[in-house]
Amino acid sequence: MSERLQLVVEDEYDPFEAFERAQGASVRDPYPEWAQLRRKGPVQKIELRKLFGLDTMVDVPDLPDLPESYLVLGYDEVAQVLRDGQTFSSSGYAASMGVVMGHTILEMDEPEHHRYRGLVQQAFTRKAMERWETELVAPIVDRLVDGFAPRGRADLVTELFFVFPVYVIAGLLGLPDEDLPAFHRLAVQLISVAFDWNRGVAASEQLRDYFAGILAERRRKPAEDVISVLAQAELDGQRLTDEEIFAFLRLLLPAGAETTYRSSSNLVFALLTHPDQLEAVGRDRALLPRAIEEGLQWEPPLTGIMRVVTKDVELGGAQLPAGSVVSVSVGTANRDEHRWAEPERFDIFRAPQPHTAFALGAHTCLGLHLARMETTVVVNTLLDRLPGLRLDPEADDVHIRGVAFRAPAHLPVVFDVPG
Ligand code: HEM
Repeated sequence: MSERLQLVVEDEYDPFEAFERAQGASVRDPYPEWAQLRRKGPVQKIELRKLFGLDTMVDVPDLPDLPESYLVLGYDEVAQVLRDGQTFSSSGYAASMGVVMGHTILEMDEPEHHRYRGLVQQAFTRKAMERWETELVAPIVDRLVDGFAPRGRADLVTELFFVFPVYVIAGLLGLPDEDLPAFHRLAVQLISVAFDWNRGVAASEQLRDYFAGILAERRRKPAEDVISVLAQAELDGQRLTDEEIFAFLRLLLPAGAETTYRSSSNLVFALLTHPDQLEAVGRDRALLPRAIEEGLQWEPPLTGIMRVVTKDVELGGAQLPAGSVVSVSVGTANRDEHRWAEPERFDIFRAPQPHTAFALGAHTCLGLHLARMETTVVVNTLLDRLPGLRLDPEADDVHIRGVAFRAPAHLPVVFDVPG
């Protein structure tokens, strides 16, 4: 008999809408304000509760004992922070995401982080990636495109980008299709913990029990999926504990789906609003990898990450005391005019340079090859299957929005349907 637990969700509550509102979806473009701040200096002292303007969107309590906090906006300074994990620790996530996800890789410092990463990355080999591309990602994308291809029009965000990375992560984990809607909702409730504690904690407990059932099944009967690999992964005689596996699984959907859905949406938005560049990529697919990197640099889906200062340090002309919190603006670093000419312009023909969308240093995104592969498959499929793809001329004011996470809410398109 299956030990898998049934996931239960509240019908009348919309976690996606609540999350969008709280993370700043009412803000259209925070970049001009961030650029202004950066021109004053690459590291700015800022009130913690006002980081990214979040106090204007959610009710952040006015606590007296908050640590000093700094916003890091320059590319060089962001790179310095991310490459020096000893001075800029990731442990601060323990008090936020850690509460609901458990002790994840995100909040680990060296040497623990190195050991854990060595174990979990055994699930993300080149061979696995090749198999996922043909057996998982391409069929998922094709199936979703089948749903609207005969219609000649679609909302690419709601009908494709929002859902396909969730199907991919669920496929990697070997979860049954019928669990996906509930799994998606609970994952968003998890990352809503900052403004909805009770729902975050409840989602965490439910996901733990759900994964416990699946892990028990895989231990008895291993399959070809990530959970089975994690159950058996071994490095220098050490294995992952069940709690370590649950923490990683709780992280995977928000880390892999919230980001990839937005980065794919942002790239396709950029191409549709720059038809000459869309045509160039359509004609010469060798340009697609460059277009993907340009999209990530121009509009990274996640604009900021956190670190905590472990010892007094000077950064970009500012003196940061031990214990202070650093908000690392990977979004703003990607628009640093010291590094890129006209950084606010989307231009797939500019000279390639490393960007910070996937972070840098030891915590560089573990899923970056998967994310790039997923985006390659989805864009190639659109170009192959939807001739004459263009923004719906009747659509009004399509735009990217958000502060912490950025993406368009809708992407209405039309295309030619053969005879
Ligand atoms: C375009 C899509 C993506 C973007 C922009 C992105 C971005 C990031 C960033 C900025 C970090 C560093 C976080 C920090 O250090 O505070 C990170 C870490 C991570 N990402 Fe991604 N990510 C993407 C897709 C994915 C996917 C598809 C997966 C699924 C496997 C994934 C799994 C992870 C994991 C497990 C970590 C933690 C790595 C560590 O701490 O060593 N990401 N990602």
